[in-house]
Amino acid sequence: MVAQDNDHPVKMPPRLRKSSRQSPSFFKLFAILCLCVCFFVVVIGAYFQALPWNLYAHGTNALDNLAFSLGLQTHVYAVVIDAGSTGSRLLAFTFHKSLIDGNLKLDDELFVQVKPGLSSFSNEPEKGANQMLALLERAKDVVPPSERGHTPLSMKATAGLRLLPREKADRLIEKVREVFRESPFHSTAHSVSIMDGTDEGLFSWFTVNFLLDRFGAGPEHTAVALDLGGGSTQVTFALDKDEEAIFRAHDPDSVHEINAFHNKLAVYTHSYLGLGLMAARHAILTADQEGNTSVIHNVCINPIVSTEWEYAGTTYTLKGPKDPTIIHIKEKKGTVAEDRPIVNFTQCLSTVQDYVAHKVYKPKGLSRREINAFSYYFDRAAEVGLIDERVGGVVSLKQFMDAAKTSCNTPNVDQPLMCLDLTIISVLLKDGFGFESKTKLNLFKKIDNHEISWALGLAFHILENGL
Ligand SMILES: *[C@@H]1O[C@H](CO)[C@@H](O)[C@H](O)[C@H]1NC(C)=O
Ligand SMILES: *[C@@H]1O[C@H](CO)[C@@H](O)[C@H](O)[C@H]1NC(C)=O
Repeated sequence: MVAQDNDHPVKMPPRLRKSSRQSPSFFKLFAILCLCVCFFVVVIGAYFQALPWNLYAHGTNALDNLAFSLGLQTHVYAVVIDAGSTGSRLLAFTFHKSLIDGNLKLDDELFVQVKPGLSSFSNEPEKGANQMLALLERAKDVVPPSERGHTPLSMKATAGLRLLPREKADRLIEKVREVFRESPFHSTAHSVSIMDGTDEGLFSWFTVNFLLDRFGAGPEHTAVALDLGGGSTQVTFALDKDEEAIFRAHDPDSVHEINAFHNKLAVYTHSYLGLGLMAARHAILTADQEGNTSVIHNVCINPIVSTEWEYAGTTYTLKGPKDPTIIHIKEKKGTVAEDRPIVNFTQCLSTVQDYVAHKVYKPKGLSRREINAFSYYFDRAAEVGLIDERVGGVVSLKQFMDAAKTSCNTPNVDQPLMCLDLTIISVLLKDGFGFESKTKLNLFKKIDNHEISWALGLAFHILENGL
């Protein structure tokens, strides 16, 4: 307005003109005062966690954005490779340290996936190492040259490498260490290792709660993380004071002290080896087998099915029970009568219960919390159409149970093990973890457009504590 005044003089009454001359300095002072007051309210409020909105949000806030544009803020990076059994995933994270609360905020992540898994290079470790080299090249797109020397780099292997013979796994790990040493990123001898189920559970749990902004409001507001892998299944959640006492008495090794942004939380995590979906399948299918065990008859498999299945280097032929259950479907409008071979769900259920039900300690209070489940929980729900594979969704235990019954009652050679898998999942949730029919599970691959992966939790850990 002032500049316009000079260029195109506008006739104004003297009184107005006068005030327009005086007001800028007055308003400037007033605005600066207001900004200062706001700033202190925000800083002090954030410090005492007393603000109505969540400053501990994982993303960038307005003040940090301002700092970025003024060049006062810098990025922090971490590069993590998740070497899983079916593929390797690179996650290159971009963070910054917030001016408001000093916490790391997630700005961006690069996600690159390659197949097959590292463990499939057990006889040619150089090829496995080359795969890692190619992934690291991609990380260079994210981390500028000046930052690479102090950007921590870590690779953790999970189930695939755990199952390899020790010396083969060691040779692969040594090759990857060589690649890391020669890379421009910061790595140490600890950078490459096989991760145990406890860390996997804790880091996944951290990732979920960080992305949901659940830290800072007490353990009852945090989400439960349920992971169903091939070999093991993990359950992880924060304990309130009463629960902590109970769990410390029952299973002290499973309670971990976690420091999440100035909040000390006691977190329970348990990894059940043998209750991963593939391991449970194997145990159920091979129970009570006599003689030649390469051909297996099982009550959870439809009588029309004959399918090959490989587990831990052995190939099995799976078939339905020798005395099949056939139900007679009466003729209806538009359909003809048929004798339909089905799985007897009652029998299948009790077979699965025999194996799964008594292996799990029922943690109390679990179903009161928000539950986030991933891996095979997600995959199987997507495969039978309970959720959309691209966006995920919310599924109740009853829906899993109903899907199991439907699958068992439908001859389907394209999904020959779906009846068994869904029954295992239902029994694990109901009889294992003690969920009710109405208990809901959030099944998502991403939260706020970020991958739900333990890699994010690990990135935090190594940025805060070193490699
Ligand atoms: C088991 O049965 C399969 C298929 O009939 C056969 O190929 C295999 O040789 C048998 N194995 C033994 C140990 O008898
Ligand atoms: C399924 O098995 C149960 C228990 O063995 C039996 O009572 C029931 O009649 C069977 N259902 C069918 C449809 O055959």
